Amino acid sequence: MSSLYRLIYTSFRKPECNEHEIQNILASCKKNNPKRDITGILLHSDKRFIQYIEGNKDEVVELYELIKKDSRHTSVNQRNFEAIDDRIFPSWEMGYKDLDMVQFNTDASVADQKTFNGIIKGELDFDDNALRILQLFFKMA
Ligand SMILES: Cc1cc2nc3c(=O)[nH]c(=O)nc-3n(C[C@H](O)[C@H](O)[C@H](O)COP(=O)(O)O)c2cc1C
Repeated sequence: MSSLYRLIYTSFRKPECNEHEIQNILASCKKNNPKRDITGILLHSDKRFIQYIEGNKDEVVELYELIKKDSRHTSVNQRNFEAIDDRIFPSWEMGYKDLDMVQFNTDASVADQKTFNGIIKGELDFDDNALRILQLFFKMA
């Protein structure tokens, strides 16, 4: 029986990781993740990445090991890794969204903005509330 896991990490985008490289990363996601039955989202700003991946435990771990070695980012920091009952991104859409804080900040409640900013800065853990905000942000962006 396969076990479903989720993994969340944050990292810093290297300055050399320009828009063209971002497109290359996205192309890799689109090509490889459906084959591995990995779903999730990848969010970025000028300086940071947040990726949420979910799927079979071995596939998740393998993919994460690969991503960690990628020279387009640095300080890759695993923030959450645990078994889950269901996917929260059931279809493959490795949604790729620019972390446009302005849009998020105008649409979200003050409490959610604070939590989201704390998550991005690495000050808070990913709990259920943080995941809800991540989904909220993804729908908005
Ligand atoms: C922030 C970040 C996120 C990435 N996410 C994925 C991913 O979800 N799936 C994937 O296959 N590659 C991802 N990559 C790229 C991998 O590190 C690697 O370059 C790629 O899988 C190589 O496969 P390819 O030669 O088939 O493109 C990511 C890279 C970065 C920097």
